[in-house]
Amino acid sequence: MTERKAGSPEMETLRERAWEVLAANDRGRFTVPTAPLYPHQWMWDSAWIALGWAERDEARAWTEIESLLSAQWPSGMLPHIVFHQKEKTYFPGPDVWQSGVEPPTSGITQPPVAATAVRRLYVNAEDRALAERKARELWPKLLAYHRWLYEARDPGGTGLVAILHPWESGMDNSPVWDEALARVPIRADALPQPQGRAGPVRRDVRHVDAAERPTDDDYRRYMSLVAQFREAGYDSKRLHSESPFCVADAGFNALFHRANLDLLALGAELNLDAGELEAAAGRTEKAFESLWSEEAGVYLSWDRRAESLIPVAAVSGLLPLFAGIPSAERAARMAAAIEEWGRSVRWLAPSTAPTDRRFDPRRYWRGPVWVVVNWLLWQGLRRYGFDELARRVREDTFELVMREGFREYYHPHEGTGLGGRNFSWSAALLLHWTGRGKDA
Ligand code: GLC
Repeated sequence: MTERKAGSPEMETLRERAWEVLAANDRGRFTVPTAPLYPHQWMWDSAWIALGWAERDEARAWTEIESLLSAQWPSGMLPHIVFHQKEKTYFPGPDVWQSGVEPPTSGITQPPVAATAVRRLYVNAEDRALAERKARELWPKLLAYHRWLYEARDPGGTGLVAILHPWESGMDNSPVWDEALARVPIRADALPQPQGRAGPVRRDVRHVDAAERPTDDDYRRYMSLVAQFREAGYDSKRLHSESPFCVADAGFNALFHRANLDLLALGAELNLDAGELEAAAGRTEKAFESLWSEEAGVYLSWDRRAESLIPVAAVSGLLPLFAGIPSAERAARMAAAIEEWGRSVRWLAPSTAPTDRRFDPRRYWRGPVWVVVNWLLWQGLRRYGFDELARRVREDTFELVMREGFREYYHPHEGTGLGGRNFSWSAALLLHWTGRGKDA
């Protein structure tokens, strides 16, 4: 396979197309992931989207993050969706969440990658004065968020923080959640009704083929959790002790650990004191010991309700590479696992091990390839010196995007684009990856 060189005419054309996607999804102070499927601001999308904006307009990149953090709750929580504008088509919207804050938001969080994005904006910035000012303003808010995560999601001090809803993982319908989600009782008032009938209606399947989205039963349980959290007034303590779904996700914790390190490093550069965060981050790193599976070659997630490891090999369990968590030996085992997966599929990296019986090459996080995941894996593999494999991950990604455009995800056997079109983070990360992030 020929390498896609940054600066080559085909790459320049692709970058131009990426700019068109960002421009179309730009809402002034924030960027929607894609219209009409996701017409608001999503947290981890926006953090990465900012890296794309920084390629052309650093001020706009900082604004993206500021908009996100402007929705921070008094507790420190950063919500996974911010509803900056009145828009009635998205479900579940503000009337379902009833979070009682302004701007309206959802009541759950998402992978805590904002500190990593901010540090990267800061380090790469050409406008140093602006970067210094913005980083100083944002840093205390990020610290408050990280403190909230430890307090609200790790009250027992285990070092690992829990997600209370599959949406918090960012990998909504990964088979890793199946059993924990199956224990969530379905409430009669949370059923999405088919079109034309009374009651709340799923909107996602109007825009995207239902075979590429979570099933209706999954959706009923997602909505049952939302109803429960709403009725508990989003009280963090109650939510952690009462939610039937409570999982220490290997992917979320790996991204959190990396974000802790980035926040600490940025604090050191700006001469700001992070207090107890360093010790807490040390505990998180150690706690990964309990999640390792030599057999699967990935880290597993821990079900805090069942008190057991979840035996599903998924791409979330490879993200600790990005955070520098595994030893060199374990990283080699993980690289071998990726190579194994790569022998079963044409395109790396499938979101679930292709050997798992729940692997589904079309359905969202159960098999398809995602640009964001590949970009994180590429960095992790390079960090440990697996340059050949890293190159394949990058080339596969660039090739998919070139063939199919900036889609939400891609079929790992056929390479066809799936889910939403003109997807912001796919475009933004391509811009960053072929721009300032090319040596990251
Ligand atoms: C889906 C994805 C999630 C993403 C969101 C917006 O819910 O699972 O990770 O943030 O779409 O793109």
